[in-house]
Amino acid sequence: MPKTALLKLDEKEIALPIIVGSEGEKAVDIAKLRSDTGYITYDDGFGNTGSCTSNITFIDGDIGILRYRGYPIEQLAEKSSFVECAYLVIYGELPTSEQRAKFSRLLTKHAPLHEGMTRFLSSFPRESHPMAILSAAVNSLGAYYPHLATNNHLHDLEHFDEAAAIAISKVRTITAHTYRVTRGLPFNYPRPNYGYCENFLHLMFSEPYNEYIPTQEVASALNLFLLLHADHEQNCSTSTVKMVGSSGANLFASVSAGVNALWGPLHGGANMAVIEMLKSIHAEGDDGTKFIEAAKSGKGEARLMGFGHRVYKNYDPRAKIIKASFYKALASLGIKNDPLLNIAMKLEECALSDDYFVSRKLYPNVDFYSGLIMRAIGIPENIFTVMFAIGRMPGWIAQWREVAVNPKLKIYRPRQIYTGKTVRDYVPVEQRQ
Ligand code: CMC
Repeated sequence: MPKTALLKLDEKEIALPIIVGSEGEKAVDIAKLRSDTGYITYDDGFGNTGSCTSNITFIDGDIGILRYRGYPIEQLAEKSSFVECAYLVIYGELPTSEQRAKFSRLLTKHAPLHEGMTRFLSSFPRESHPMAILSAAVNSLGAYYPHLATNNHLHDLEHFDEAAAIAISKVRTITAHTYRVTRGLPFNYPRPNYGYCENFLHLMFSEPYNEYIPTQEVASALNLFLLLHADHEQNCSTSTVKMVGSSGANLFASVSAGVNALWGPLHGGANMAVIEMLKSIHAEGDDGTKFIEAAKSGKGEARLMGFGHRVYKNYDPRAKIIKASFYKALASLGIKNDPLLNIAMKLEECALSDDYFVSRKLYPNVDFYSGLIMRAIGIPENIFTVMFAIGRMPGWIAQWREVAVNPKLKIYRPRQIYTGKTVRDYVPVEQRQ
C-alpha cells in the first residue's frame, strides 16, 4: 500500500502521495494539489522543493556526502580523472577501456575551433568579461553545428555523443583562446597527444618558442578542481539548464544559459569574490580578524565569501579534498609564503570557532580554496568562474539529457502568488500624478 500524507485544507482532507528516493529521501507529491484544491505551495528560493527526480548526483548536506552515480567523491578524487568522471556523470557508469578511448578520441577530434569561431572570439572588446564571451561562444555552437541543435529532442538525442563531446572539449579551447585574445597573444592549437588538463594549460600558457609543460602536481590540481565541480545536482545553474531544456531547446542553448546563471557571486562567481575579499583584507593591513567581525552582519560586501551553502550544513566534502591537494600544488610551484593564503587560514580558523558561523552552520565551501588553487596555477581572477563552467559542463549535459529523454517531459512553469495591484482602469496622461 503506497504511503500518503494527509493535508487538511478548508475542512477537507486531501491525500498526497509520498515519494521515496533510493537514499531514503522523502517527498510529498503535490502534482494534483492545485487541480484538486485551488491551492499552490509557496517556497521562496525553492529550498524545500524537489523540481525533478534524478539519477545523477546524491548529496547529503547534513553530513557532507557527495556521490556521482553512487560513487563517493573521495574515491573518485583519489582514483579517477575529470574525463572519466565526465563520462560517468553523463552516461551513468564508469567507462570500459574501449569506451574511455572512444570518448577521448571524440574530445580530441573536437578540441580545435572552427576558424569562424576564432574570428568571433577575436571580435570581442579586450575588456570583455570572459563569462560574457563564454556564454555567447557556447550558444554560438548551435550556429556552427546546426544539425546537432535542431530543438527537436528526439533528433538531438540521436547526435548526443557528438554534441556532448563538442561542449566538453570546446569549452576548454574557447576559454584559452579568450584568455589569449584579450591579452593580444596568438592562439595556440590543441595537441592531440596531450591529456585534457595538460592541453588546456598548453592552450593557455604556451608561447611560440616556449612550450608550457606543467608539473604533474599542477596538472593534477587542475584535474581535481574540474572533477570536484563536475556535478552538484539541482543548483541554480543546473536548474537553469533544465528549465531551458524543458522548452525543447537544444543542448548548446541550454548550457549557455547555465553559464549565465553560474556567473553570479552567490554561485560560481564566489571563487573570484573570495580572492577579491582576501586582497581587500590584505590591502587594509588586516589579518582577517577585523573582517570576521564585520562579516557577522552577513550583509553586502562584508559577507564571508567561500563560506556557507544552501545544501551543506557541514563541511563541503569538496573543500576538504581541494584543501589537501592545494598544499602539494603550492610546493611544486615553489610558493612558500602567500599572504592571501595566510589570511584565508586565519579567516577559516576564526570562523570555525565563532558562534555566529557555528550556530548558522557556515563552513568553508569549495570556492574558499578553489580560487587560491587557480591563482597559484597562474589563472587570472576573471577566468576563475569560467574554470568552474568547464568543470560543470558534464553535469549540465547529463542533467539536460535527463530532461530530453523524459517521455513525460513537461515544460518547467512555476506558479506565483500575485501581490500587485488589483484590477483598475487606465488613467489618461493628463490625470496622472
Ligand atoms: N557570511 C556571513 N553570513 C552568512 C554567510 C556568509 N558567507 N552565508 C550565510 N550567512 C548568514 C545569513 O546572513 C543568514 O543569517 P541570519 O539568519 O542572521 O539572517 C544565515 O547565515 C542564513 O543565510 P542565507 O543567506 O539564508 O543562506 P542561503 O542558503 O540562502 O545562502 C549562500 C547560501 C551560499 C548563498 C550563502 O551562504 C552565501 O552567500 N555564501 C557566500 C557566497 C558563496 O561562497 N557562494 C558559493 C556557494 S558554493 C558554490 C556553489 O555550489 O555554487
